[in-house]
Amino acid sequence: MAITKLVRIDKFHKNEAAIQEAGRLLADGGLVAFPTETVYGLGANGLDAEAAARIYAAKGRPSDNPLILHIAAMEELYPLVAEVPETARILAEAFWPGPMTLVLKKSGRVPGGTTGGLDTVAVRMPSHPVARQVIQAAGVPIAAPSANTSGRPSPTKAIHVLEDMDGKIDMVIDGGDVGIGLESTIIDVSEGTPVLLRPGYITEEMVEQLMGPMAVDPAVKGQIPPDIRPKAPGMKYRHYAPKAELTVFLGPPVAVCGAIEKALLEAKAQGKRAGVLCTEESEAFYQAPVKKCAGRRNEPESVARSLYDVLRAFDKEQVDCIFSESFEDLPLSGAIMNRLLKAAGYRTVVCGRI
Ligand code: TXA
Ligand code: MG
Repeated sequence: MAITKLVRIDKFHKNEAAIQEAGRLLADGGLVAFPTETVYGLGANGLDAEAAARIYAAKGRPSDNPLILHIAAMEELYPLVAEVPETARILAEAFWPGPMTLVLKKSGRVPGGTTGGLDTVAVRMPSHPVARQVIQAAGVPIAAPSANTSGRPSPTKAIHVLEDMDGKIDMVIDGGDVGIGLESTIIDVSEGTPVLLRPGYITEEMVEQLMGPMAVDPAVKGQIPPDIRPKAPGMKYRHYAPKAELTVFLGPPVAVCGAIEKALLEAKAQGKRAGVLCTEESEAFYQAPVKKCAGRRNEPESVARSLYDVLRAFDKEQVDCIFSESFEDLPLSGAIMNRLLKAAGYRTVVCGRI
């Protein structure tokens, strides 16, 4: 595949011709990247194992890492799953369409090539109008991982998709920047108590308010030993990682600032070009060759929205190391810190705690 067609769509005005073309390409086994409310997805026909195989090839993704099937309406769920437990019904009613993925026992219609051979399937009903139109036009459930090369930060802008996928896929629909910026919350409802497999915009607290305590997979909170297999196979890979060594400074913001300033001096003395991942509130404190702001601390949604863009931006700056502030006490800290710590390979410095 040599040419990737780029189409711009204003998310408030339907571009019928482009949507129909995307639908046709998908129905014929092609690959189309499109915006969702979380991150850009790389879509293929989720019931066609060969189309799914093309996704793995374009991303360079390990084939044991299953894909999420995207649907546009509740009735599209039933043919994909063996059963819809009460927990799934309650969660779907509360958070679909939206940034939540449910893992359920799969039906015979879903090929093993989409689920990495698992007997469960992950399903999500996105709320982004362009994503919904593309799924409807294709007329099949759409398997869509994040549209990045495996291991790189997920795309939150169409330009990120092109950086990784130009020449490898049939079409990119540019629907502007995504709203949330971090991938969906994944909840396994396939066996009794729901289990959180990946934190996201729908928080643990939001789910627990609705249905009481939820279990949390160990891979969510920290590094897991290499011999343990997390329930979401994707959680075991180093992800979202910039090229330079990233260290996250944990602790109260004032202590973090001081420790990063010290680390910057040390890096300078060693002849290293260092970057700082900070926020608009703290940027002026640092004297560093490269500074990138992940939004504003007093507006946590802006941190989530810009984190991946900032991680990608460091790759263009030829830095040797990146020192990052942490985001431990914000409403979205579960999802933000999960991605940031994974990007750092769990390399941390604890500041100002006795
Ligand atoms: O927000 C999102 O979820 C985005 C947009 C495009 O919808 N998609 C996304 O897909 O993040 P991906 O492939 O990058 O991440 C899917 C995650 C992986 O960690 C994978 O292991 C897990 O979902 N997963 C998929 N099927 C699963 C299953 N049957 N059981 C457990 N985990 C599963
Ligand atoms: Mg991904």
